[in-house]
Amino acid sequence: MAKPKKLYLCQNCGNQSSNWIGRCPSCGEWNTFVEEIIELEAPKHKRFGSTGEGKKNTKPKQVHNITLSETPRRVMPDPELNRVLGGGLVPGSLILLGGEPGIGKSTLLLQMALQLTGVKILYVSGEESDQQIKMRAERLPYANPDCYILNATSVAHILQEAEELVPDIVIIDSIQTLQNQLLDSAPGSVTQVRECAAEMMRFAKETNTPTFLIGHINKEGALAGPKVLEHMVDTVLQFEGDHNHIYRLLRNIKNRFGSTNELGIYEMAGSGLRPVENPSEVLISQKDSALSGSAISATIEGVRPLLIEVQALVGTSAYPTAQRSSTGYDLRRMGMLLAVLEKRCGFRLATKDVFLNIAGGIKVNDPAIDLAVVCAVLSSSEDIPIDQADCFAAEVGLSGEIRPVTRLESRIAEAQKLGFKRIFVSGYNLKGIEQSNFSIQIVSVKRIDEVFTLLFA
Ligand code: TYD
Ligand code: MG
Repeated sequence: MAKPKKLYLCQNCGNQSSNWIGRCPSCGEWNTFVEEIIELEAPKHKRFGSTGEGKKNTKPKQVHNITLSETPRRVMPDPELNRVLGGGLVPGSLILLGGEPGIGKSTLLLQMALQLTGVKILYVSGEESDQQIKMRAERLPYANPDCYILNATSVAHILQEAEELVPDIVIIDSIQTLQNQLLDSAPGSVTQVRECAAEMMRFAKETNTPTFLIGHINKEGALAGPKVLEHMVDTVLQFEGDHNHIYRLLRNIKNRFGSTNELGIYEMAGSGLRPVENPSEVLISQKDSALSGSAISATIEGVRPLLIEVQALVGTSAYPTAQRSSTGYDLRRMGMLLAVLEKRCGFRLATKDVFLNIAGGIKVNDPAIDLAVVCAVLSSSEDIPIDQADCFAAEVGLSGEIRPVTRLESRIAEAQKLGFKRIFVSGYNLKGIEQSNFSIQIVSVKRIDEVFTLLFA
């Protein structure tokens, strides 16, 4: 056997160095280098191990001469997952599902396994015992007699079992617990994660078995361990949401076999994850009379129009420095919008506490929510409610101008579908939009003071 080699590897990005360095020159993170022992010519598992020859006997082919083999996607019973996967599960694909601990990754995949009746599934768990998985399965309203649970962490063992069982789908919970016994590094280290994922990839491609890998996310919100994992797999799904709220978003951040713009929305219930069919309806809080400080925004998440409620509370500060806090919306962007209101419209907000919240516990990055944020703040500050039939879709610029946003038509259509009577959009956004197609009143505005006059004066 070759002499083992010691290397220092950045646990964040996989960068290598022969000596310890405090700060990774590649990703800039501090204290991420860990010594790992690399077995130079580690013999691999016999069936799926590469023997150095790579793919045998391949010759260049002309692209139009390659015949597409008829391997249809497997349609998932869960409509949200099916859409996020781009219309079904591609045979032989390797899918990474990332998310913070406790967000519901294991639940999502176990639920999928139990829903696929008649499909042989191997669910490998290195984190939970059979008993714990059984307890979880009991809570879910599905049953699949062909779902097998394997409690293992050794890749060689898992591959051997998979070879005997010949499952249709393999689920690994989680890639950070897997271990290749030929490597000296601890499970979860860059070397282990990379090697184990590579072995699972070989398995997926050679046997044409779709394989799911669950991966934990580190505190910075990136998929823990090496970025190399993201390059290797075919699809990267991210499961996110606020632990204190019931809604979970399933996003596709990489997809070799479809679009990355798809978004799935789930509700965490006592009996598993329930797909949410009409997200806009649940994200807007139900109330009988209009209250000040609330504004509805027509946003787009991926390709999906979503109506979201922005809530603001503006009050006189008890301290010399006013408090600013925001949930689900970028705090610095909120600071910028408050400065715009102060400078361009003359509102004295410097001595006021401002609290902002996006209802439903979801995070919004769409700039089209700006106008709703501004209106919610103004509404709370003036204590004048905004009509419940009004909604907003526009970005706010530094000089107080109302800027255009993308895909305005689908936003307007969604607002109309949900029964809103007026939508405020940028006056610069209306080119090419046939207003007579919509029954909802489209109010075009160009400056923030115009909006103020229309709503509160
Ligand atoms: P889990 O799938 O264990 O998260 P992860 O694998 O991402 O770490 O999800 C755990 C949470 O989900 C836990 O707090 C309990 C909750 N849960 C429900 O609310 N309802 C259910 O039916 C199940 C199975 C879990
Ligand atoms: Mg889990």
